[in-house]
Amino acid sequence: MSKKIFSGVQPTGNLHLGNYLGAIKNFVELNNDEDNKCIFCVVDLHAITVKQDKDELKNNIRETTATFIASGIDPSKSIIFNQSKVYAHAEGSWILSCMAPMGWLNRMTQFKEKAGKDKEKASVGLYIYPILMASDILLYDATHVPVGEDQKQHLELTRDIAQKFNKDFKCENFLKVPEPLIKKNFSRIMSLKDGLKKMSKSDQSDLSRINLTDTKDEIVNKIKKAKTDSYSIPNEEEKLKDRPEAENLLGIYSSISDQTLDKTLDQFGGKNFSELKNQLAEILSNKIYPISNEIKKLINDKQYLDKILSEGADKAEQIAGKKIKEMKKIIGF
Ligand code: TYM
Repeated sequence: MSKKIFSGVQPTGNLHLGNYLGAIKNFVELNNDEDNKCIFCVVDLHAITVKQDKDELKNNIRETTATFIASGIDPSKSIIFNQSKVYAHAEGSWILSCMAPMGWLNRMTQFKEKAGKDKEKASVGLYIYPILMASDILLYDATHVPVGEDQKQHLELTRDIAQKFNKDFKCENFLKVPEPLIKKNFSRIMSLKDGLKKMSKSDQSDLSRINLTDTKDEIVNKIKKAKTDSYSIPNEEEKLKDRPEAENLLGIYSSISDQTLDKTLDQFGGKNFSELKNQLAEILSNKIYPISNEIKKLINDKQYLDKILSEGADKAEQIAGKKIKEMKKIIGF
């Protein structure tokens, strides 16, 4: 069945292995399936929910675009664009924010994590950011949304908002209720320094993550220094319970080698971590370094990247512009 795919990545720098295995790798697979219509968005409006430096933001928009292409998304097959170029996203977000009850937003755990202790100082944008995400998805009638586990709650909210809009305005099926595409087992890549913390671009320690722009030596060094425990590797998934660092490294190995966790456990069960680390470092540097190299090449070709974004925005505008017009008509504008 043909799928309409929409997903987004924030241009906030330091894209890492979690973004790649949790999201971008799946974007590439979906892009390669001729039956799918894919749209991948550099969500720059989401990025400004926290303070950004103007020049860095500009660079990061290009770098995220370069990362999509370097990872294997083909801009002649998929639409790649940045969110701020298509006005309908912000307009849709306002309309949906008038439908969504505050109680729904108050449940969002990511806001609580990101706002930290001092919620009063967090921007209103950070609070309503999941509504902008709903607008992104619903404007394109997306049927499937590939994301990492941390976005699951936002997708559930998107589904609720779509259903509420359709019900409130008696327009059944006008906003399409999307399905999340979340890879089992590998959708939450954890920090290399703490298996209980998500791998994240904002972690102070660069050793906690593999950046998609790391060199081979950096990748090898980070895997070597990754935290493990003092037991050998088990043969069964069940025995990974309470061993988050072991589970994470085995999960990363499985995901990057496109094999099941069971197969990885067969391969390494009973062995020491040094063996797993050696092979993991090798396979990661073989897969990530070419991407890193390509990002660095592409980032110098600003004209090319800007052309991809501008052509992508024209195509996105055709779809989202039509939907927002219909939406406004339904509301009574
Ligand atoms: P963002 O930019 O934080 O992350 C981009 C994608 O990477 C995934 N991800 C991870 N997956 C596994 N392990 C990790 N440690 C990890 N860290 C990040 C995220 O789940 C995400 O899929 N709100 C979104 C962007 C967005 C969006 C959308 C996504 C805006 N509009 C519409 C889908 C559809 C975000 O901030 O992702």
